[in-house]
Amino acid sequence: MRVLLFGSGGQLGSAWRALFPEHWDTVSLDYPDVDLADPDSIKSVISNTRPQLIINAAAYTAVDRAEQEPELAERINTRAPGVIGSCAEGIHAAVLHYSTDYVFNGRKGHPYAETDTPDPLNVYGRTKLEGENRLAETSEAAITLRTSWVYTPGGSSFPDKVLQWAHRQEILQIVEDQISGPTSAWDLARSSLRILEQAEGGPYEFFHTHKGIYHLAGEPVVSRYEWAQAVLALDPDKENRLCKEVRPVLTGVFPAPAERPLFTGLDCPLVRETFGLPVLDWEQGLNEAFARIV
Ligand SMILES: NC(=O)c1ccc[n+]([C@@H]2O[C@H](COP(=O)([O-])OP(=O)(O)OC[C@H]3O[C@@H](n4cnc5c(N)ncnc54)[C@H](OP(=O)(O)O)[C@@H]3O)[C@@H](O)[C@H]2O)c1
Repeated sequence: MRVLLFGSGGQLGSAWRALFPEHWDTVSLDYPDVDLADPDSIKSVISNTRPQLIINAAAYTAVDRAEQEPELAERINTRAPGVIGSCAEGIHAAVLHYSTDYVFNGRKGHPYAETDTPDPLNVYGRTKLEGENRLAETSEAAITLRTSWVYTPGGSSFPDKVLQWAHRQEILQIVEDQISGPTSAWDLARSSLRILEQAEGGPYEFFHTHKGIYHLAGEPVVSRYEWAQAVLALDPDKENRLCKEVRPVLTGVFPAPAERPLFTGLDCPLVRETFGLPVLDWEQGLNEAFARIV
């Protein structure tokens, strides 16, 4: 299978590259070799590579910065999926795309199902939601996996920040009112691969049959405070850290440009039943992710 991956240097894209089966013919690109803000760049890469499947792991993911750069976020998160979808359709290619729990306003109080109505609170969530729609309008064979709190230890994700803070500060303040499902990039790519392994008759036909949006994220839901505690328990350098106390605080303690939805857990039975996937236990995912970097 000929596969084109966008966002190859990101958390999810890197996990995908590590998991690509040897018999796949893959082209993995990131900025500036492809610029998702530029429709001509996307079109020329797709027409030159003519893939059977496009995996779009690229996105404008800087949630706060997006408030200052809404136009750029819109080009990458909204318009690019539309361009990818129409180019893919023209060559009969399937599209695997990713979206976010931030399409919801976080006020439901229970995990969100695919049938719940989105209502994003910030530019990032709005542009990602519109990207889902553009892709569905342009491609007849696109699957979008909505996920949450994606991380890879060893970079600059939340677990890395918790460990850095813990080695610099005696008291850590971590928000306890933001609740969702931490999702290891590795688990997300591995589950995505399991979906693709079922596309024996070809990705276009398989994606056409199963097109739509699916929730796929770590479960059960947990607060950032609880997630941080679990990260600290896995700190390989516990003896040398400064942190003596971890204090739960409310989101309002840290004013930020982008409003955050508070409860954005995703309910995932649809993806499990449709594709026979296991539950992504967030704690097991965290343990495995740390074991891989040690
Ligand atoms: N991270 C999360 O907590 C989270 C939560 C829910 C959903 N998601 C979704 O999951 C997917 C993967 O997220 P991630 O955490 O792996 O993101 P990430 O680590 O921020 O990676 C995004 C990738 O997109 C690339 N990119 C950005 N602008 C580009 C452009 N103009 N042209 C080409 N490539 C560009 C980045 O390249 P540069 O590094 O060179 O900019 C980077 O390689 C995204 O769809 C995201 O919206 C993420």
